[in-house]
Amino acid sequence: MNDIDAVEDFIEKQVYPQPGQKAQSDYRNYDNPGRETVREFYRENHKHQTLAFVRAKRAEFLELNRQRMSPFAALDFLNTLIDDSDPDIELDQLQHLLQCAEAIRADGHEDWFVLTGLLHDLGKVLCLWGQPQWAVVGDTFPVGCRFSERIVYSEFFAENPDIHDPGLNSEPGIYRPGCGLRNILMSWGHDEYLFHVMKPYLPEPALYMIRYHSFYAWHREEQYDWLCDDHDRAMLPWVRKFNPYDLYSKSPTPPDWKQLRPYYEDLIAKYLPDELAF
Ligand SMILES: [Fe+2]
Ligand SMILES: [Fe+2]
Repeated sequence: MNDIDAVEDFIEKQVYPQPGQKAQSDYRNYDNPGRETVREFYRENHKHQTLAFVRAKRAEFLELNRQRMSPFAALDFLNTLIDDSDPDIELDQLQHLLQCAEAIRADGHEDWFVLTGLLHDLGKVLCLWGQPQWAVVGDTFPVGCRFSERIVYSEFFAENPDIHDPGLNSEPGIYRPGCGLRNILMSWGHDEYLFHVMKPYLPEPALYMIRYHSFYAWHREEQYDWLCDDHDRAMLPWVRKFNPYDLYSKSPTPPDWKQLRPYYEDLIAKYLPDELAF
């Protein structure tokens, strides 16, 4: 889990800092203890996220026949994602989800938006099934076409075999321009996976928030519009609206899960079935 924390901390503080705050200098030069971990994380990610890899992971996981769990069991399960050597981070995953949801609720948004805050990282349960962290978290991006230079550490795509295939290292690659994001394959991670788990249950903007919340090259860097259709463009403001809650909702007083649980039980019961297929 330390790697996941390092990667997410890096994204939050050094690549996409809060509006009005400066990034802590150029993330490539920034001298901090987590830097090598993060660099190595992105090196592995960019090297291995090929079109073939994504297709294989989709075949492996999107049958959703691995485990059936109640939404609460899944949240608890995610919470076992801890590093035994560090007792202080025991509740980090659940805390992040709760703080995100509570910040959305405090701003008076609709209940499905609050629920999306609570659920959006549940796909990280992939880590518990032996998946390497570079195939679970981090920025996501389309595969099967040229990688944008605006993706974090894009220089590491030099090690991705797809760039030597002219059919893949091009724009449009294997896609028809304007085909819509739903028709393209994204790098594999918790976002795409959870989208498929939640697809039957949540409203469309919630599904976009879940599916594309790590697609910074799109929602932050304004890349890949050539793949989008009007529906994607209509949903983009929702993805953008969600992002600050994901990145910047750490509250000084951590929310009390026990006390909040009845509210979230009702909310979950309103939208989700007793058991989810993972
Ligand atoms: Fe996430
Ligand atoms: Fe998150």
